[in-house]
Amino acid sequence: MEIFILKTAEEASRIAGRFVNEAIKKNPKTVLGLATGSTPLMLYKEMYTACQAGLDYSQVRSFNLDEYYGLDPQHPQSYRRFMNENLFNHLNIDINNTRVPDGLAKDCAAACAQYEADMKAAGGVDIQVLGIGSDGHIGFNEPGSSLVSRTRLVTLTPQTIRDNARFFEKEEDVPRYAVSMGVGTVMEAKTCLMLCFGANKAKAVKGMIEGGISQFNPASALQMHPHTLVFLDEAAAADLELKDYYRWASEHPATL
Ligand code: GLP
Repeated sequence: MEIFILKTAEEASRIAGRFVNEAIKKNPKTVLGLATGSTPLMLYKEMYTACQAGLDYSQVRSFNLDEYYGLDPQHPQSYRRFMNENLFNHLNIDINNTRVPDGLAKDCAAACAQYEADMKAAGGVDIQVLGIGSDGHIGFNEPGSSLVSRTRLVTLTPQTIRDNARFFEKEEDVPRYAVSMGVGTVMEAKTCLMLCFGANKAKAVKGMIEGGISQFNPASALQMHPHTLVFLDEAAAADLELKDYYRWASEHPATL
C-alpha cells in the first residue's frame, strides 16, 4: 500500500483524478472499476472535467462494484442512476460499455457469474476506485465476507443500512440486500485507488492499514494487493500510528 495524506479531500481527489486521466491518456481502452458513495464525487468531477477539455473516454469500459438488490435501475437511489447522473452522463463514454450489477436479476447467482465472466473477457479491471464503509466494508463486502469472495448477493449490516439511510426518505426504505463484487474480485484489479475522507472513516482506515488482515475488516485484504494507492485527508488519517512516516514517504517517494 502506498499511503498519501493530503490536507483536504479536494487535493486528494485532484491527485487521484490525475492518475486516472493519465492512465486513460496512455491506454484509451482502460477498464475502470467504479464505486458509488459521496467519497468519489470529486474524483468523478476531475474525470469529466478532463473529458470535457478533450480527454477521450469513448473506448473506456467500466464495471461498478455493487448495486442494491431489488431496486430498479431507474430508482432515484439505485447505483445505476447514481453513476449515470454523477459520471457517465458527463463523459463521452459509450453507456453500453458501463456495467452495474443487475439488482433485479431473477437468477442472481447466474447474473453474478456472468458479471465475473464479462469482467474477465474485458481483460480485467485496470484501475479499481474504492471507498470504505465505516465498518471497513469495500463494495458491499461487510465484515465476515470471505477475503476470496466473488460477485454475489449479500446481506447489509444494520450499521450500513443506518449509514446509507441519509440517501433515502426513511431507514426502512434502504434495501436489506445488495449484489456486490467480492473481495477476491476486487483483489484482481491491477491497481486499486482507495479514497477515504472525514473523521467517521478514521477507525476503518486504521484497521485497513495497520490492523491485522482479517475478514473481520474486509478492506484489510488490500494489504496483500500488489498496487494499492490510498488517498486520505487529515481527518481520515488521524488514528494512524505511522502517519508521520506515511507523510514523509509521500514527500520522498521511492518510485522516482
Ligand atoms: C456504500 C458503497 C461503498 C462505499 C460506501 C461509503 O456502502 N457500497 O462502495 O465505499 O458506501 O460511502 P461514502 O463514500 O458515502 O462514505
